[in-house]
Amino acid sequence: MALKRVGILTGGGDCSGLNAVIRAVTRTAVIQYGAEVVGLEDGFDGLVFNRTMALTTGSTKDILTLGGTILGTTNKGNPFAYREFDDKGEIVVRDLSAQAMETFRSLELDCLFVVGGEGTLELGYKFQQMGMPVVGIPKTIDNDLFGTDYTFGFQTAVQVACDAMDRLHTTGRSHDRVMILEVMGRNAGWIALEAGLAGGAHIILIPEIPYNLDNVVTKIRHRIRGKSPFSIIMVAEGAREEGGERITQGTAGTRLQGVEQLGGIGFHLANQIRERIPLEVRTTVLGHIQRGGSPTAFDRVLGTRLGAAAVDAAARGDFGTMVALKTPDIVLVPLSELAGLCRTVPVDHQLLRAAEATGVNLGRGAM
Ligand code: F6P
Repeated sequence: MALKRVGILTGGGDCSGLNAVIRAVTRTAVIQYGAEVVGLEDGFDGLVFNRTMALTTGSTKDILTLGGTILGTTNKGNPFAYREFDDKGEIVVRDLSAQAMETFRSLELDCLFVVGGEGTLELGYKFQQMGMPVVGIPKTIDNDLFGTDYTFGFQTAVQVACDAMDRLHTTGRSHDRVMILEVMGRNAGWIALEAGLAGGAHIILIPEIPYNLDNVVTKIRHRIRGKSPFSIIMVAEGAREEGGERITQGTAGTRLQGVEQLGGIGFHLANQIRERIPLEVRTTVLGHIQRGGSPTAFDRVLGTRLGAAAVDAAARGDFGTMVALKTPDIVLVPLSELAGLCRTVPVDHQLLRAAEATGVNLGRGAM
């Protein structure tokens, strides 16, 4: 179909590479199809409340290397159950999806590019079912989406975590300490696993494998008896002990979304270990540093490929799909097959095998 006017929004938590996608969508739409590009601001809020910005080759100049998203984003803006505080500070929930559909029509858009993780793509799929032509573009540092080998933002987060590991290594070794690095990933251990492997962690704990504390402590004791007493532990924020609960900060920081904030397992684990071994233990929580800043070359290229492929898909009329990396190709996957699903690390994954084969302790089994 001839594309005249297309819209794009970025939803959910930001990550590095979003601007590379915005730039690629804009440039492809303008250069290849002569279309206009409308940026919806702050995720689906822009669609509900008709907040837009014109995107041109000029306005997207110099953003390839920029972290964050020039469109803004929000976690809270689910148009189907829009949560707001009323005058008394109580949360009220309203369905504003019809209003969003009306904005889409009034902007005379041929399609909407929805750049997001599982939650945002699920919303995109719902709008697709209401008749809005949607193409999804997978984004998240957690790398927990089905249908794609990698999401952009993940590699940058892994690199940041790996750099932190390298630094913890030198200070940990100097002081003969147990150094714990807590990283993001929510329900999936991909960041911890890849950054842990890349950073030479001695112990990697992920949500998919509840850890056995005795097993972890045995590994540290083993290292104390050897020539390098220090240990480096990579722990995913969603990790938990066998029979235990994952550690959260409650919903205070995200009251409007009502989503639990994960975090604290690093300090919890430090206390557990401290009671059992004679070394000092220190915890670093990497937090949102993993989400900010300039994307790696890999994420810039992936974002550019996905953005360009998404516009080509729209021009062919391939709606209700998500562009995805199936190495070495960019392919299309039906949104119906993946919307709202979380891809965690299979407990027999080859990366886990590589970790254990090279002596990394995963908090399970014999060492
Ligand atoms: O999904 C991306 C992610 O960074 C998770 O790894 C993390 O648990 C969560 O978002 C943090 O969200 P917020 O931006 O609300 O702190």
